[in-house]
Amino acid sequence: MTGPAPPLLPALRWLDEAPFFQAGLQGYSDAAMRIVARRRGAPYCVTESLIDEVLVRGGKGLEAAALDPEDHPVAGQVIGTDPRAMARAARLLLGLGYDAIDVNLACPVKKMRGLCRGGHLLTSPGAARDVLEAVRDEVGGAAAVTVKLRRGYDDSAESAAGFHRVFEAALDLGYSAATVHGRTVEQRYEGPSSWAFLLDLTRRYPGFPILGSGDVFSAEDVLRMLRETGVRGVAIARGSIGNPWIFRQARQILRGEPPSPLTLAEQRQALEEQFALSVRFLGEAAAGRQMRKVAIKMSRHHPRAEEAFRAFAAVSTNAEWLAALERLYPAGLAVAAG
Ligand SMILES: Cc1cc2nc3c(=O)[nH]c(=O)nc-3n(C[C@H](O)[C@H](O)[C@H](O)COP(=O)(O)O)c2cc1C
Repeated sequence: MTGPAPPLLPALRWLDEAPFFQAGLQGYSDAAMRIVARRRGAPYCVTESLIDEVLVRGGKGLEAAALDPEDHPVAGQVIGTDPRAMARAARLLLGLGYDAIDVNLACPVKKMRGLCRGGHLLTSPGAARDVLEAVRDEVGGAAAVTVKLRRGYDDSAESAAGFHRVFEAALDLGYSAATVHGRTVEQRYEGPSSWAFLLDLTRRYPGFPILGSGDVFSAEDVLRMLRETGVRGVAIARGSIGNPWIFRQARQILRGEPPSPLTLAEQRQALEEQFALSVRFLGEAAAGRQMRKVAIKMSRHHPRAEEAFRAFAAVSTNAEWLAALERLYPAGLAVAAG
């Protein structure tokens, strides 16, 4: 980088409280999941990727992005191609009260790539910069602006150069932070996330808040990523699916305390809370579909995990779901588990 850097946009000061956050997870990190995570220690959350055109069209797509007062601080993550549409989408999210805007340059989904969105933009650094600039200009200093990237499109030297061009564009434009997933777009979710890449990046760009993503499956991994890579914060993604206690445990570990064991009562409490929040935000039918998925993921912590998995996999109505909850997690129990 040449010349003095422009001042950073508002910082992600929420990470001063705890250096990790609920990552964006399509199909999971909705308002209900985010609130359950916050109540257990997540200091900051990112939405699922929201398509610029859907937000700009208004109506139900925009209504679905409305925020609950408990759901702060939160980043609205936008994905798209056209810089003007991305800027308008960011403006709409600011209008809904989002505390930060996160630009997705990481999504590997083919449909997205076909439209030159998400991770595909890493192959067109000029187009990626245009998107980053348009969003920065629109948001001004009104909120933090961040970007989510993968370490490249593939393992070629050309792709590595492309990554650095896009990354440095975010830096030059004064972005508040960048989250880097240490896998390539081609890798999708296979093979390891390169923490060595993250370490190299924090050394090359000291002073710029880099947030790390990839292979964080336990509270211990949060501490390990902080120590081994020097990142400013850790994105907790798959490690939080069906496991919102990871945030409480990460706080305990960072305070130097052993993580307290997870009780069956705590598991019931989390399931009940997310069920009630999902009904409030999504309505009965969609809440039922979502909570079947969530309970299946959470069942691995049950002392009889296999039985709990099968029970939730078999439910098809909300009444059946509640009956399975009652049977597997009897009210008033506080048995240490998992
Ligand atoms: C089911 C699923 C959905 C995801 N959706 C998003 C998304 O909407 N936005 C985003 O930035 N990342 C998304 N990611 C990527 C994660 O945030 C994270 O970067 C990735 O899973 C690597 O971290 P992990 O190995 O610790 O899970 C998604 C990942 C998964 C598995």
